[in-house]
Amino acid sequence: MDRFLNDNHMLMIPGPITVPPRILRVNSRPMINHRGPIFQKIHEYCVDGLKKIFKTDEGEVYIFASVGTGAMEACVSNFFNRDDRVLVLVNGNFGQRFVQIANAYGLNVDALEFVWGQYADPEKVKDHLSKYPKGTYKGVLVQHNETSTAILNDLEKLSPIIKEHGALFVVDSISGMVAAPFEMDKWKVDVVAAASQKAFGCPPGISLLGVSKEALNRANNANLPRFYFDVRKYHESYKKGQPPFTAPISLYFSLEESIKMIFEEGLDNFQKRHIVLRDSVRSAVKALGLKLVSDDSCASPVVTGVFSPEGISPQDIINTMRKDFGIVLAGGQSQFKGKIFRIGHLGFIGATEIFSTFAALELTLDKLGYKFEKGASVKAAQKVFEENM
Ligand SMILES: Cc1ncc(COP(=O)(O)O)c(C=O)c1O
Repeated sequence: MDRFLNDNHMLMIPGPITVPPRILRVNSRPMINHRGPIFQKIHEYCVDGLKKIFKTDEGEVYIFASVGTGAMEACVSNFFNRDDRVLVLVNGNFGQRFVQIANAYGLNVDALEFVWGQYADPEKVKDHLSKYPKGTYKGVLVQHNETSTAILNDLEKLSPIIKEHGALFVVDSISGMVAAPFEMDKWKVDVVAAASQKAFGCPPGISLLGVSKEALNRANNANLPRFYFDVRKYHESYKKGQPPFTAPISLYFSLEESIKMIFEEGLDNFQKRHIVLRDSVRSAVKALGLKLVSDDSCASPVVTGVFSPEGISPQDIINTMRKDFGIVLAGGQSQFKGKIFRIGHLGFIGATEIFSTFAALELTLDKLGYKFEKGASVKAAQKVFEENM
């Protein structure tokens, strides 16, 4: 019998993640009128809270009923004209998705590829853009946190290079938002996508789009086809305190609760906790003698990629972790498929989840024949938490 095929498991994947009981409870509240006063208050609280989280006074944040890819599509469909040339910085699977979406909308797409596991080097971006007259690229699209390769790109360094070229700075922060510092106004980000099932700790189904004033102006004059994700509709409707279409009301309840929880902890503390989670996981992996996918200098605060030991398939590790311990890890994607496994460490979790994961991972690796010092990983993780208590 598989004991863990019901809801008795622990999600250690980079989203969807464990939804805290407080959020689960509000998710089951009775339905309300999406045009009524109760909903309007929730909507306004969410939009206002999201602006604080995105760190924007000047821009807007729109809420869609979709998964993150919907917001990625909105990043493309709203702000460009057919045949516009755009540059996508690709250092993983989700960069490739931006390329696919931009191609689907008939844009003229160049991909600047980086070695998987390494960040999008600002110097290389600068070199590339310097070969073209300013304004050649109407937009530069990049992941904040590239989940597939477990790296965090340096948006602060990329920003002046992209703005100097005169391009829209378009960011997928679907897995980065809330967990990693993000400064929409200060970093002059024009468009940013996020999603509910990542560090917000909500179920999947809400995506978010931050839009600068400049991007909104572009949207008013852009000619690509769009309807549900048309930011002009959201902009007009939000002036009345309402979404343009029926809202995903249960998910709004969740999002409202999540935002309250984030502010109760404090956004800075929330982000510092993710650094501790990152460091504890990386320290534990190193103690096992396993190789990390990303370098310390660009390590993701929400997910850690680990190369499977020689002769052991990552899928066997993932299967054993799930079947024997009910702990769910993620596999690799695209060129990392069959080579790595990934540990998600985001949302409202702490030391308990990390200790359990490594205690179980040690027994799993031992069962699969990998040799290491028993107890070393849990001890290494404990040390990081002890230093940060
Ligand atoms: C960086 C990044 N972009 C985009 C997506 C796609 O989001 P969704 O699966 O919600 O469509 C993900 C999902 O993991 C992601 O991590």
